[in-house]
Amino acid sequence: MTKIEKIVLSYSGGLDTSIILKWLQETYGCEVVTFTADLGQGEELEPVRAKAAMSGVKDIRIVDLREEFVSDFVFPMLRANALYEGQYLLGSSIARPLIAKHLVGIAREVGADAVAHGATGKGNDQVRFELAVNALDPSLKVIAPWRQWNIRSRMQLLEYAEKHHIPVPSDKRGEAPFSIDANLLHTSTEGKILENPAEVAPDHVYQRTVDPVDAPDTPEIITIGFERGDPVSVNGKSMTPAALLTELNGLGGRHGIGRLDLVENRFIGMKSRGIYETPGGTILLAAHRGIESITLDRAAAHLKDEIMPRYAELIYNGFWFAPEREMLQALIDHSQAFVSGEVTLRLYKGSASVISRASPCSLYSANLVTFEESAIAFDHHDAEGFIRLNGLRLRSWAARNGR
Ligand code: ARG
Repeated sequence: MTKIEKIVLSYSGGLDTSIILKWLQETYGCEVVTFTADLGQGEELEPVRAKAAMSGVKDIRIVDLREEFVSDFVFPMLRANALYEGQYLLGSSIARPLIAKHLVGIAREVGADAVAHGATGKGNDQVRFELAVNALDPSLKVIAPWRQWNIRSRMQLLEYAEKHHIPVPSDKRGEAPFSIDANLLHTSTEGKILENPAEVAPDHVYQRTVDPVDAPDTPEIITIGFERGDPVSVNGKSMTPAALLTELNGLGGRHGIGRLDLVENRFIGMKSRGIYETPGGTILLAAHRGIESITLDRAAAHLKDEIMPRYAELIYNGFWFAPEREMLQALIDHSQAFVSGEVTLRLYKGSASVISRASPCSLYSANLVTFEESAIAFDHHDAEGFIRLNGLRLRSWAARNGR
């Protein structure tokens, strides 16, 4: 086994990473520094400090990354209207490069030669962590215990905990729990009964949205302000990126917005089924498309839509810190210079519908489009020639085909 001097572990304080922490200390016999990120997962993080300290960790890092997560990762992605396979808002995918960035930063600060994570060998997250580490510091080694140790089942995992006096919470004693990943953008739930895509997801898997059926019978009208492609205010009140997303998560959750039951194609090659809840993100996507609809030129908007699936796939597959993602980002960001103004939406029983939009940079011309007599010079005869020339090749083609 390669000699490792010091490891920085991405540590949640949960059962799995607690076992990983112990395993790293035993296997490598070196110092392990823990790093825990607050991404708005809605869990108290101070208990994590006590847990790590109990396992003999001297250097315990708990960092609030909520603002950085939303402003430097979620918002840039939103500017692209990114959806993987047409539906998934990439809530887990976009958090991994941020965590990796900080793992690398801490590793350099403390002089560690390796980083470790608790992602399993079948998922996308291992790929995302490791591609990001490769791109940010190729000299760092990556340790992925789930691929290295010989724990192969839930039973063996619990036995290992028992043997090493790692407390197992009573709700973790029985069969494997759902695999849940939560942050300010979404909650994702996989595993157990969800592994059968023919089974309807039971109601209790949903954690941050009400069932649209039980949502309020009265719609709620909200207005979101945008500046250069990014949301900056809700109902006229300016907010920081994390505060704004938190606010919209509350509103969306109450109205049952942003639920998704999806079978997706993992990068690693298998299909998987998951339940996603992305209340604020779903509202923001609708609102962003709303403000773009009046501020983007047609060809600019269509080009964005063409590259979007490619951009989303890069993020899904873990290529956030790759040159082609940065190139596409530059294109997307450039397009947003005039994407400013206000969008009003109606939140009602699971839907977030744009009902009006306005912008000082609007390209929309009522004068041009109106059915009434208008002052703007638009010669109707031009339209006749436009259609005649566009139809030229269709007339030749139809004549040849004998129509
Ligand atoms: N399948 C989703 C993705 O690859 C979520 C992965 C993490 N979620 C989880 N419940 N473990 O982005």
